[in-house]
Amino acid sequence: MNVKMDGVEMDVLAVWREGSVVKMVDQRKLPHSFEIIDLKDHKETAWAIKVMVTRGAGSIGCAAGFGMAQAALEAAYLPDKDFMVYLNDAADTIRATRPTAANLFKAVDKCLEAADWGKVSIKVENIVKAAEYILNDDIKATEEIAKAGGRLIKDGFKILTHCNAGALAYIGLGTALAPIRQAHRDGKNVFVWVDETRPRGQGARITAWELEQEGIPYALIADNAAGYYMQRGEVDMVIVGADRIAANGDTANKIGTYEKAVVAFENKIPFWVAAPGMTIDLQTKTGDNIEIEERDPEEVTKMWGLNDAGEPTTISIAGVGTNARNPAFDVTPAKFIDGFITEHGLIQRPFIEAFYSLFASPGIPPGNKYAGT
Ligand code: MRU
Repeated sequence: MNVKMDGVEMDVLAVWREGSVVKMVDQRKLPHSFEIIDLKDHKETAWAIKVMVTRGAGSIGCAAGFGMAQAALEAAYLPDKDFMVYLNDAADTIRATRPTAANLFKAVDKCLEAADWGKVSIKVENIVKAAEYILNDDIKATEEIAKAGGRLIKDGFKILTHCNAGALAYIGLGTALAPIRQAHRDGKNVFVWVDETRPRGQGARITAWELEQEGIPYALIADNAAGYYMQRGEVDMVIVGADRIAANGDTANKIGTYEKAVVAFENKIPFWVAAPGMTIDLQTKTGDNIEIEERDPEEVTKMWGLNDAGEPTTISIAGVGTNARNPAFDVTPAKFIDGFITEHGLIQRPFIEAFYSLFASPGIPPGNKYAGT
């Protein structure tokens, strides 16, 4: 992602690794400041996932893979048995950070699979390669999603999106924003309605910022304004990302996605989910089996931003002691979804058959075959 901050232009990923250090764009600070944070060991990386220094299914998947690579490097001097105990403990720590996005769990599993062969030094090498492979594969997947989804977007389309499913949420071009970027780069006239996405404001703080960076026309709207524009015929399609897609197509994404899907259905507006195979979880049969993260109620009762003096400030928007609930995701039933934009192209009903034929194989070579990846 090309970033222009304070006149300086940089090409950055949401998450990357330099030796034993994991680096992340600190998304908690956007859009007011652009900072890179260093995580020195797997415990720091797990903390960063949990508190949402990085966020979005793909970015936390890559971070989880890199956390596993850090754990492997930390334990590289141990005998095999102790190495595996350390690695499994690290896997548990990373899995415990956030429960909903499939990518995080798949990344941890891929790294554990990479450790099922060879002496410790080979295992370390293979885990590091597996983590890098996940990142590179994700980047390629988003490029394919851009091409496949870009073809759905016609000149003059107004597209609604929810949360942030851009380059900061999914390494590379992002998921929902990838087709929009492609259409814009192809010279099509596109416009994006950006849902604010309370409580953490990923739309206001990150999607609007990403679109601004790329010069794609957009307007930020309050979450509860989306139905108004859909009813008035001012939305041609909805594209969202996903955190976990069940085998039947039921899709967990940021809280509020379900409401947008129902209103789109009512108004006969195409509703597409952009996500690669890493987010499709064939072990989860339906949306009922997806664990929904519940976060700190203070995210609902308080807001963060800059005050008039330009200083970062948290304000309370509810009375002291207000009872609040804060589910971070909801599940959109497959019946409201027109199709999925994946690295293998567009998938339409019946979803389950297409998912099994395209995504049932592991997609990453076994542990001893990483050479050259
Ligand atoms: O809580 P977050 O910010 O991690 O939630 C992110 C989302 O819900 C995104 O829409 C989703 O990950 C799709 S983009 C990879």
